[in-house]
Amino acid sequence: MDPQTRANLLTALHGEAFAYAKYRLFAEQARQHGNSDLADLFHATARTELFEHFREEAELLGLVDDDAANLKDAISGEAYEINTMYRTFAEQAQAAGDTAAAERFAEVRQDEMRHREAFAAALDRIELA
Ligand SMILES: [Fe+2]
Ligand SMILES: [Fe+2]
Repeated sequence: MDPQTRANLLTALHGEAFAYAKYRLFAEQARQHGNSDLADLFHATARTELFEHFREEAELLGLVDDDAANLKDAISGEAYEINTMYRTFAEQAQAAGDTAAAERFAEVRQDEMRHREAFAAALDRIELA
């Protein structure tokens, strides 16, 4: 596949994933205020973003592999968030005086550590089986 097409697919996947997550929260907001028709619209659209758009683009990119390969991919993603992304974001937010954001980044980073550990344990079990 052409590298530009590959890069565009990855960008599109991030957009679709963001739209999915955002529409789920928009649906929750609408539901809490009794706008159930709007909640249903956001929810149905979110499902299309994930189960059609994201899924079909992910397939073109070969995003999903076998369980062991998926676990290795997940571990490296979590490791990036732990060692680079959230570490840097927390430091930058702290330095800029954005204390709430700094604390949130640091807390989420702790969750990502637990995710990485759980995935690593699951990979061990697969490789020992
Ligand atoms: Fe979409
Ligand atoms: Fe995570």
